[in-house]
This record gives sequence, C-alpha cells and structure tokens, in this order.
Amino acid sequence: MSHQLATLLDEQRRFPPSPEFAAQANAQAGLYDEANRDRLAFWADQARALEWIEPWRTVLDWQPPHARWFDGGKLNVSANCLDRHLRGPRRNKAAIIWEGEPGDRRVLTYWDLAREVNRAANALKALGIKKGDRVAIYLPMIPEAAVAMLACARIGAIHSVVFGGFSSESLRDRINDAAAVAVITADGGYRRGQIVPLKRFADQAVAGCPTIKHVLVVQRLMGTASSEAGATMTPGRDYWWHDLVRAADAKCAPEPMEAEDLLFILYTSGTTGKPKGIVHSTGGYLTQVTATTRWVFDLKEEDVFWCTADIGWVTGHSYVVYGPLANGATVVMYEGAPDWPARDRMWEIIARYGVTVFYTAPTAIRAFMKWGTEHPAAHDLGTLRLLGSVGEPINPEAWIWYQQHIGGGRCPIVDTWWQTETGAIMITPLPGVTTTKPGSATVPIPGISAKLLDAQGHVLEKGGGFLALTEPWPSMLRTIYGDDARYHETYWSRFPGRYFAGDGAKLDEDGYWWVLGRVDDVLNVAGHRIGTMEVESALVDHPLVAEAAVVGKAHELKGQALAAFVILKEGNRATAQLRDDLKDHVARKIGAIAKPDDIFFVADVPKTRSGKIMRRLLKDIAEGRALGDTTTLADPNVVAKLKDQYESEEG
Ligand code: WTA
Repeated sequence: MSHQLATLLDEQRRFPPSPEFAAQANAQAGLYDEANRDRLAFWADQARALEWIEPWRTVLDWQPPHARWFDGGKLNVSANCLDRHLRGPRRNKAAIIWEGEPGDRRVLTYWDLAREVNRAANALKALGIKKGDRVAIYLPMIPEAAVAMLACARIGAIHSVVFGGFSSESLRDRINDAAAVAVITADGGYRRGQIVPLKRFADQAVAGCPTIKHVLVVQRLMGTASSEAGATMTPGRDYWWHDLVRAADAKCAPEPMEAEDLLFILYTSGTTGKPKGIVHSTGGYLTQVTATTRWVFDLKEEDVFWCTADIGWVTGHSYVVYGPLANGATVVMYEGAPDWPARDRMWEIIARYGVTVFYTAPTAIRAFMKWGTEHPAAHDLGTLRLLGSVGEPINPEAWIWYQQHIGGGRCPIVDTWWQTETGAIMITPLPGVTTTKPGSATVPIPGISAKLLDAQGHVLEKGGGFLALTEPWPSMLRTIYGDDARYHETYWSRFPGRYFAGDGAKLDEDGYWWVLGRVDDVLNVAGHRIGTMEVESALVDHPLVAEAAVVGKAHELKGQALAAFVILKEGNRATAQLRDDLKDHVARKIGAIAKPDDIFFVADVPKTRSGKIMRRLLKDIAEGRALGDTTTLADPNVVAKLKDQYESEEG
C-alpha cells in the first residue's frame, strides 16, 4: 500500500455541518428517505423542475443495459437554460462573468447570452446544419464555447467538444468518429502568456476529415495576434463567427427534442488505443445536472459560482454550462492558467467577483499548497461559503489545507465522485446534511445506488473492492457512439447487469466511500483521464520505436504521472535528445497532457507467459522500488531477472 493510501484510510477527522449552513441549505436530509421510498417518483419530481414542451409517458424504461428516461417527453435544453429566465428578474442577471488570461473581461446577462445563442443557432441553421448533425467545438475557455454548445442544443445538433489542449490528430480522430459536419474553433487562445494557434491545428485536422463542410472561427486574439497566429481562411469552407452571428436574426425557436434525443458526445480515454465517444441524451441528463447543482453547490439567486474546469471535460459541460445555467445561476469563466501572470491569479479572481462557491480539482489544490499560503492570504476570500473537489481522490492533507487556507475554516467541502459516463455527480456529501471525512466522497446522492463488489461480483458490506452502480440513473451514458458492443463490453460485462465504473474503492464501517482510483489501464494524470494504450500507440508511431509500455507512477502534485518503457528498433541509440523527441512526439499525437514524465529505454518489456505487460513490475521500477539504478535496464538480463523474481513471488 502506498504511503498516501495508508494515511487516507487512517483518517479519523469528522466535520459535521454547521447549524447555520444546514438551516439555509437547498438539500435537506429528507431527500434520502423520499428517494428510498420511491426512486422513480423521486426522479420524476426532479424532472418536473424543468420546463417540458410535452410531458413524458414513462419515467424509466430499462432494458439492461439500455435506459430510456422520461420517454415521450419533449423539451429543449437551451430553452431551459435561457428562455425561462428571461421572463422574470433574472433577465438582467449576469449569466457568465468571463475573464481572459490577458485580463480582458466580459459579462453576459441572461438576456445577452440568449441573444447570442439565438443568433448563433440561426447562423448554424443558415449553413444547413440541422437536428441530429454533429458539430465539433474546439475552443478556448471563452463565452463563445458556452454559446456554441447552447446554440447546438437549441437546434438539436449534437455537439462534440474537444479540449483545446488536444492535438490536431486527436481532433481529427474525434471529428471522424462522429462524422461531424462542422467545427467551431478560434484563431487562438491565451495560455500562460503564449498563444495556442487553434485554427492552425483545426486546419491540420480538417485536412483529414472528409465529412467537415464548414469551419467557423471565433476571433479571440487581440490586435495583430490573429494574423500572426496564422489563421488563414479557406473560402467557401471557413467563416468568421462574428460575421455570421452578427448577420443572423436574434430569434430562433427552440427545437422540441425527445427526452432521449442526443445532446452531446464527449470523448474519453479507455483501455484501448481509441477514445470512446460517450453519448448523453437530453431529458435525463438535464434533470440530474440541474438537481445536483442545486443540492451539491447549494446555489441561491445571489451566488457567484466558479467551476474551474475547462469546457472540454465533462465537468465543464455539467457544472460550467448546463447545471448552473438551468438553475439561473451566475458563473465565472476564466480562460487561462492559474499561475499567470502570478500564482495568486485564482484568488484575485475570487476576490474581484466575490465568488461564493468554488469547485476545482485536487491537482490544483496540491499545486496551490506547494506555491504557498501567502498567495491566498493576500486576497479577501471572505465571500466563499462552499468548496468543491472533483476528478481524483483528494488526500486528507490537501482537503484540510483547502478548508483552512481557502475556506477560512468556515466552508463545507463537497468531494464529488462521478465520471464522464455518469454525466452528473453520483457520490458526494450534501452540504448542510452530511458529516464529512477528509478524503471520502461520503455517500451516493439520493436516488443513486452504488455497491461494493469483490472480484466475483459478490456484494461487500465494507472493506475494499470495486465500485459498481446497481440501478440506472437519469444522466447515465446511453452508449458509446457508433459502438454499442464496446458499451456492453466496457461497462456491463465485468459484473453483468451492473455498471462497472473502473474504480477501486473502500467502504468504511459508516458506509462511507473512499474512492481509490482506477483499476483498469486508464490513468488519472492531474485529473485528466489518459489511456496507457493511447500513449503506447503514440510512442510506437515514432519511426525509431519498436515497442512501448506505459504505466502510471505516483506523483506528488498530479496524483499520477506517466512513465514509458521504450524498446528502440535495432541499431538505434538511446540519447537524451531522443527522449525529448519522443515526449514531443506524444504531445503532437495526443496533446501535452499525455507527455510522459519519464522515458526509460529498455532492452525488454516484462510480460507474463500469456503476453500481458507486467505493469505492476514496471510501476515498481518507475517508482524506484524494484531497481535503484534504472540505467542498467537496457541490459536484457536485468529485466529477465526481475521478471523471474516477480513471477516466483506471484506463485
Ligand atoms: C476519478 C470527471 C476520487 C475516478 C468528473 C473516475 C474521482 C474518474 C473523483 C472519472 C473523486 C473523479 N474521488 N476519484 N471525487 N472524481 N474521480 O471521466 O477515477 O474525467 O473514474 O470525470 O476520475 O474521470 P472523468
């Protein structure tokens, strides 16, 4: 057991909710009883908080593993996020408070945002984009990212947002998998003072995308930066976003969508080299993101909510855009890096806008810890009243630091477990209700059933095992786009009839969940999911590489970091230069987030008799346990000896 894990499981501290918070909380303890009494009636009640064009006939139709929620019902997500707020005082309320990395700012009221979305929707329609078409979105964190998503939702086009940090090849593969007809991008974005030339990347991608008819380009860069970033426009294919949107009418009737019509596809890494297009539909997704936003983030009319996730990840979909806007909340959106121009940027933003609820990832918290308390201490964080964490297990030390130095000891912390596949939060404390334990995501939300299973699928009351979800939930993924067989295989075959999340977990004597991390070949690097096979195939794509094996090693800040073991083709020498080239190669193939921290050149990769890479041994080597001096790895005898030793240990 790693040191970090051991401390996690020894954690004894308890934080009961304060009576003041409890008294005003949106979520009350009665929700659990309500859901236990009648789960489907409970979710139907949550769905009634939305505005439906036509009511549903059935709450749930469950033909495992396919769920249909609120069948027969019709609604439009953008109308729920916008139109219904325009009828009352929210009309002039800030929907998005945005800050660019260079310091430029914009505020869009609900009225402003609705106009933009309507215009953009009409612009998409004018290009011939219609209900059911797929549209790729490859943008920096600018308001247009939310506008583009909502505009797709308005006309019933299915968006596929691709994180702006992904390479052109990753973008190309995702566009092709979904056969997208258009891509919405920008001339560039700002990141750590540098320009990310998104349009240039999009052009490289689209060169290999036969289905793309249109490229819409948001002008984000200021001054001469736009032309310097090399955003050239291809006539007949490329349009400036502002030209189309300005010319379009500001009224576009929302498309009535079936509850089960697709809202979006979002790609995530799996255990093969090919990312999976996770499919989310309309009614169930919006129901659960709306309810969880209300309960877990406790949003009130005057709150200012900042979820720091990029729109390219599911957290950005559910808790920057859909959940908060469906609740008529004010969200903060920030384009750039947390340490630009200085390490207090986040705290400066919180103070500037009076942020009240803040939601970020443990990786970020650990970086803030390392940077030092003087940065948050230099700003007035007194408006904060609730803090959230997502994306990876949070170590108790980081939890306590967050509580003390950011929350001033007064803010409850919600550690929220969920996944791209679950669409919305699944396991979390309810602020004001649940006593928290640092490092535990506590218990499933009302209406959600999670069970701990052993390797044979027996239910365990406590101890360690696999986390499975045993009842369908409204915001669950519906399938993997274009690959329903993989959907069955990945999620439903390990424990038939139950959803296998891919996570290992511990359940303590109070029934609290301690999610320990992935048990499959997916790594969680700085809160981002990366498949080991994806990185391996990027490495073997390099002309000098014969074979590669990638494992995760414990990392103080990122949780996990990538370590690659590389066998070179005959006659090539391992050099420091080649090591750098390989890292760059992976960044080009996938994106900078997938760059290995370490590359070990080896003569052999240890495999079991059945040919499976012995990842545990490699992890031990990467973490410095199995071998002191890794340079000797190139000696074939060393790996053979280690392998023998491990095989005899494992009997
Ligand atoms: C991990 C992000 C522990 C987990 C919303 C899961 C967590 C994967 C937590 C999903 C948490 C997420 N505690 N682990 N609070 N939240 N994870 O799809 O391994 O990017 O399977 O969704 O992140 O990552 P994804």
